[in-house]
Amino acid sequence: MDIGEEVKKRLDAGGCVEDTLAVAKELGVPHESIVGVANSLFAKGFVTKEPLETSMTELTAEGKEFVADGSSEARVHAAIPDGGILQSDLNEKLGTIAKVGTSKAMAAQFIRIEKTPAGTMVHRNQPEVRDTVAEHLRALASGDALAPAELEALKKRKLVAVNIVKSFKLTPGADYAEWGSGKQAAADLTPEMLQQGTWKDYTFKAVNLDAMGRDPGEGHLHPLMKVRTQFRQIFLEMGFAEMRTNRYVESSFWNFDALFQPQQHPARDMHDTFFVKTPARTPTLPAEYLQAVKRMHTSGGFGSTGWRYDWSEEESRKNLLRTHTTAVSSRTLYEIAQHAKRSRDGFAPGKFFSIDRVFRNEALDATHLAEFHQVEGFVIDRNLTLGNLLGVLQEFFGRLGMRGLKFKPTYNPYTEPSLEVHAWHEGLGRIVEVGNSGVFRPEMLRPMGFDDDVSVIAWGLSLERPTMIRYKLKNIRDLFGHKVDVGMVKNNAMCRLGYE
Ligand code: PHE
Repeated sequence: MDIGEEVKKRLDAGGCVEDTLAVAKELGVPHESIVGVANSLFAKGFVTKEPLETSMTELTAEGKEFVADGSSEARVHAAIPDGGILQSDLNEKLGTIAKVGTSKAMAAQFIRIEKTPAGTMVHRNQPEVRDTVAEHLRALASGDALAPAELEALKKRKLVAVNIVKSFKLTPGADYAEWGSGKQAAADLTPEMLQQGTWKDYTFKAVNLDAMGRDPGEGHLHPLMKVRTQFRQIFLEMGFAEMRTNRYVESSFWNFDALFQPQQHPARDMHDTFFVKTPARTPTLPAEYLQAVKRMHTSGGFGSTGWRYDWSEEESRKNLLRTHTTAVSSRTLYEIAQHAKRSRDGFAPGKFFSIDRVFRNEALDATHLAEFHQVEGFVIDRNLTLGNLLGVLQEFFGRLGMRGLKFKPTYNPYTEPSLEVHAWHEGLGRIVEVGNSGVFRPEMLRPMGFDDDVSVIAWGLSLERPTMIRYKLKNIRDLFGHKVDVGMVKNNAMCRLGYE
């Protein structure tokens, strides 16, 4: 039978098909096959579909079993011989239906139970019983209606269930007239069809404007980059300029010596720092400044005693992967000092920041990687005080949404005083360390050539920590490295620090 033709006949005659379920019943075919045909007619634009829902009372698997074999109570009844049977034997004979069947048969008064010295006996009350449950089920299956109470009882025993059946009302579609015209169906209009005029021989499938479309598979920003953008935004709003951070390989000189970090300092050990083999040393360092740094380490000056040891130029030329972005700050400060020396206007105050990668030879764990990112800022001006530092920190961290900062004295070789910055974290519900800061020592600034009233306040923090807090990541390896889930990168939310 051509189901399409059958549908067309009905549309031609009645203007619509009220319900595909009825057509399936009339034709005696499964409803799915009507739906299949309706869908392809719809795709061609021959019909439009309107979804319908009908609730249908249908037999469950157990209900169907009852129709075939009788209800469990009737089967219990049938299994009992004339003289009765030991309950244990009956149970064995009936298997899974024994328990429910026996209790239903008792309730229907099909059977009775008798305690005897030999055990519990089960007897039939009468030789024949009427299996009304199976009768009702059979009636339902053949399309007859039941009294509401009878239907309720079957539902309660889970012998029937009410299912929602989805079907369609069909009406002629936009291209109904083309149906049966013998034209071929095509999905696309091609240039050839236009050139040769063959488009007239086709009917075209309706364009589905509700289709979801293909996932364009675009790139996604890594959470670290999103958080970096936010930090950059905050610095720029505060009038800071970005420093050049394009040197992963740095000399010990700019990474440590320029920062008045003594050459015996444990951070300069191979266990803490990655030294570079090729090229192992830096040939170019500003000669005059190098001498000034050497003097400061060896014998001091400008009121300082210095570290008082034999400073090695060779040691300072050793290349390494920069361990902090303060190496970027030391280079920038030197450039500012040089500029002040050369320019007619002399010294100019300034505000600078950087956000980039640093490297440490550390034991890796859930919160430490050998490479990570640092966010760093400094302000240089005449006569800056600790008060200026506290104010700038409050402003900066306030823009990140952190208020009520707490400060704790700490030690950095290049700052005095040095302060850890702590803040209440709303999301975590506790105080967390958010950064490290300080006032750069004159031992660092004076050798560069700055006047004695020029001071620099500075602070730094990692980019990973706020990112992990923002994106609720417990393990840094979920954020960075080969174990990162690309799905995480694709799906992570937008970042607006300080507003969320
Ligand atoms: N360089 C420091 C660190 O690695 C951070 C810092 C920057 C501290 C500037 C004080 C001033 O943690």
